[in-house]
Amino acid sequence: MTLTIALRGYHWSQGELETTSPEGIFYLALNMTSACNYRCPYCFVGLKNLRPSPNELNVDEKKRLINQAANCGAKVVVMPGRGEPLADPDFWSILEEANRSGLWVVVYTNGHFLDREKIIRLKQADISLYLKVDSFDEKIYETMVGKKGVFARIRRNLDLLVEHFHEPLIDNNRIISRVGINSVVSVQSAASIPEIDEWCADRQIFYTCRSPVKVGEADLTWNFLVEKQADKLRAIGRKYADRNFTSATEAGQCGIYRFGITVENTGEIYVCPDAREGFGRIGNIRNQSLHELIRRRNTLYPLNSSPGYCFVKSLRNPEEQATSAESQSKTTTESIPIFSIKSNLGL
Ligand SMILES: C[S@@+](CC[C@H](N)C(=O)[O-])C[C@H]1O[C@@H](n2cnc3c(N)ncnc32)[C@H](O)[C@@H]1O
Ligand code: SF4
Repeated sequence: MTLTIALRGYHWSQGELETTSPEGIFYLALNMTSACNYRCPYCFVGLKNLRPSPNELNVDEKKRLINQAANCGAKVVVMPGRGEPLADPDFWSILEEANRSGLWVVVYTNGHFLDREKIIRLKQADISLYLKVDSFDEKIYETMVGKKGVFARIRRNLDLLVEHFHEPLIDNNRIISRVGINSVVSVQSAASIPEIDEWCADRQIFYTCRSPVKVGEADLTWNFLVEKQADKLRAIGRKYADRNFTSATEAGQCGIYRFGITVENTGEIYVCPDAREGFGRIGNIRNQSLHELIRRRNTLYPLNSSPGYCFVKSLRNPEEQATSAESQSKTTTESIPIFSIKSNLGL
């Protein structure tokens, strides 16, 4: 029997998401530090920007924000990362505060800072980890993170996660995993994708991949990453993870946009993690309450619930938006467009 696999904390039933009040949120996307120890040649952030901002929220401001989010109905804190969240000195305090407020935490991470002790500690917390791994080949991996001598550590951390943290559950005929892996499909990593996909499937680990988005560093390194093979790389992305949004809902919406709000580490509010410079300013949580800012976002940018709708693409790439909406509505008439694997759990 084939089961879909979902990432715990990220994927919820449509019914649960629809309980979100029109002036509330389900997901708080919170960016932690913008510093990072890696130098991925495609990084969204741009390598020159990977350093702490001078005016980052302090730990008390972040804790207040978590409490406000819980009061606005949030169930999840997602740390998408414009930097490496596990390198943030406040990470453990914020995780604790979020869990104390009843929120599940989902963290995008390069996995470098994990070790056995931290993994065992994380197992006790309400958290899922979404790791970036582009290859199991040392040379390719290190090329794609721009740093030498780090592969053995991540390979060991993946095994430690499987041994001490991973605990796939079955719920409603889905496998719910606390570990996810995400790959960027470039010319260099394309041949590695089937192996990672199989490794994840064998362990009931959530897996996604996609070709690079041409922003940040990828805009500068596009020829190196893509070499006129954009269609081929996109096709690989579709074959192994047939979805555009890792946060898609059962109705094919982008979950973070439709049911959430994004707060930058400086307190600035965005419609979604990608709607930054060049979009109208909403405000800063240092000056207004989260509740007021959600209301302001709703007035400036009334929410669109259509399947496949992407706020950024609708303004910047309307032609791509039409295609994406079409393909999303196709997949949503089937089942949940997450990721199917053959169950070896005997179900
Ligand atoms: C920006 S990173 C931040 C969190 C953490 N440092 C990490 O790498 O997982 C979040 C995810 O975005 C992916 N990513 C970064 N730049 C990208 C790009 N230009 N196109 C597609 N995905 C990208 C990374 O591979 C990673 O899975
Ligand atoms: S993609 Fe993540 S790990 Fe790579 S440089 Fe950017 S923030 Fe760091």
